Amino acid sequence: MFSYRHGFHAGNHADVLKHTVLVHLIDYMLRKDKPFWVVDTHAGGGLYDLTSGYATKSGEATTGVQTLWDLRQQGAKIPEAVKAYLVQVAKVNDGPELHWYPGSPQIAAQMLREGDHLRLFEMHPTEIKLLQEHFASVKRGVSVQEADGFAGLKACLPPPPRRGLVHIDPSYEIKEDYRRVLQTLRDATAKFATGTYAVWYPEVARHESNQFPAQLKRVAAELPKVSWLHATLRVKANPKGGMGLFGSGMFIINPPFTLYDQLAEALPWLVETIGLDEHAAYELEAQQS
Ligand SMILES: C[S@@+](CC[C@H](N)C(=O)[O-])C[C@H]1O[C@@H](n2cnc3c(N)ncnc32)[C@H](O)[C@@H]1O
Repeated sequence: MFSYRHGFHAGNHADVLKHTVLVHLIDYMLRKDKPFWVVDTHAGGGLYDLTSGYATKSGEATTGVQTLWDLRQQGAKIPEAVKAYLVQVAKVNDGPELHWYPGSPQIAAQMLREGDHLRLFEMHPTEIKLLQEHFASVKRGVSVQEADGFAGLKACLPPPPRRGLVHIDPSYEIKEDYRRVLQTLRDATAKFATGTYAVWYPEVARHESNQFPAQLKRVAAELPKVSWLHATLRVKANPKGGMGLFGSGMFIINPPFTLYDQLAEALPWLVETIGLDEHAAYELEAQQS
């Protein structure tokens, strides 16, 4: 079984990028008064305690969300997309201290309206238990399944309201995940071409990770009339041959037209605020249909 536990990484630079994008994507879906689905293929535990256990061992949130949270407390000027993300983080924190970090299921759940639907898939025995407990009192609008998210996604598309956002966020602990993401995008877009698909991937010193953006673009190019957006946030130098996450990327198929400008403002600011050395950088590129 997998050893990856998202609690070690909750609120790090990769979550900052991923969840800033996610919040904007959901906000955009909310602009229309029509129900939609969010499908989260790799959900994790849902909510993370930053003051104990895994999070304090890794300290990763300290140089991610904590830095941004502190700037917010100080009244700093923050780009709109990051501000909207921090509003969602604040929803699970009562006071001025940052105690809890909302994972993607919690962020989506707190943003959705009555009539919208959240489908969550998770396979790790401990994470699924946490997720089920977390949503146990929520009777409507959220379904949690202990199942493979790649297969689960295919089975639930197209969503009945024909509006949907799919978040694909594996841990890439096994190389197979890279290949499965590409195949899943092909299969899913064949069943639901108009959906928005947001794929997160790690920047690590690994062949599969280096090749991945080009492969994602090739999959998108196979689709008729598709737009995509690709954003990366790198916080430090690539540790040549070493392990460890030095950045991450988001690849979005059918992004809202508003996302590019929001990220054009947010990414340079994130490089300045949570970049760790002079190699910190971002990329932002997009293609219109
Ligand atoms: C990066 S974490 C998810 C974090 C979460 N999406 C968030 O943003 O808060 C990846 C999760 O996928 C789970 N997982 C791994 N393989 C899976 C699969 N085939 N189907 C569903 N979940 C899987 C792992 O146990 C882990 O909890």
